[in-house]
Amino acid sequence: MNTVYVNGEYVPQSDARVSVYDRGFLMADGVYEVTSVLDGKLVDFDGHVKRLWRSLSELDMAAPVTEDELLEIHRRLVELNNIEEGGVYLQVTRGAAPERDFAFPNPDEVPSTLVLFTFAKNLVGSPAADKGIKVISIEDIRWGRRDIKTVQLLYPSMGKMLAKKAGADDAWMVEDGFVTEGTSNNAYIVKGNKIITRGLSNDILHGITRAAVLRFAQEAQMEVEERNFTIEEAQQADEAFITSATTFVQPVVAIDEAQIGDGVPGKVARRLREIYIEESRKAAI
Ligand code: PDD
Repeated sequence: MNTVYVNGEYVPQSDARVSVYDRGFLMADGVYEVTSVLDGKLVDFDGHVKRLWRSLSELDMAAPVTEDELLEIHRRLVELNNIEEGGVYLQVTRGAAPERDFAFPNPDEVPSTLVLFTFAKNLVGSPAADKGIKVISIEDIRWGRRDIKTVQLLYPSMGKMLAKKAGADDAWMVEDGFVTEGTSNNAYIVKGNKIITRGLSNDILHGITRAAVLRFAQEAQMEVEERNFTIEEAQQADEAFITSATTFVQPVVAIDEAQIGDGVPGKVARRLREIYIEESRKAAI
């Protein structure tokens, strides 16, 4: 059985418990990170920890452990659970106050909750990467601080269900006519040699995979343009793709039933995926 980390202890998954008063459970008052694992090593750990510290500080939440401790916990879980390929899920919440109260509890009296678990997943040989995925567009009705990686995932979850119902794989969210991002990934289109993706702001999550992929694209002499784009522009693009820690670079072959390019994964997305996997393997710790 999988071993899970809960507040300083490594326990079997079935024994892992948090309080019903935990604010993560009552109020979605928590943040998370998902770090991928390749060859038993962590991909871009540094980037994920930096974003975690930022999420915590934006919400006035205390860091439960140090960066070194966090690395040690990640590595120990990967080893205990024999993860060669997959990921580590981490969640920090504002802890369990003695009663339900909208006001934040005093962090000196209520320690934050820290939970980590691992999952095994075929990341490199994913069938979706060979075939490409289909997305639908939906209105983005999430809150205004999407740059903070909170566990308020109900709307993204509903978006995923709407996509499934429509026979698609995922949804791209649209605000004021422009694509923000996918339910759990960043969104891109390609025109010629140019990669277009929305710029960073509070409107989207600052993807760790996004940062790496844009850097690799520039190093490979591809042009990168950070600007808004519409669904109509995306439908007429040569290619489209998404990025995240669990999908890497994944081609999008249809948007709202309009075929993108030839309806098969494009060469820019395929090349970026190869580079990303190769570089991530080399740099994983
Ligand atoms: N999701 N945008 C959203 C809304 C996300 O939830 C994610 C990640 C990303 C991509 O970020 P990164 O490249 O750092 O993984 C963008 C994770 C994988 C999840 O919720 O499982």
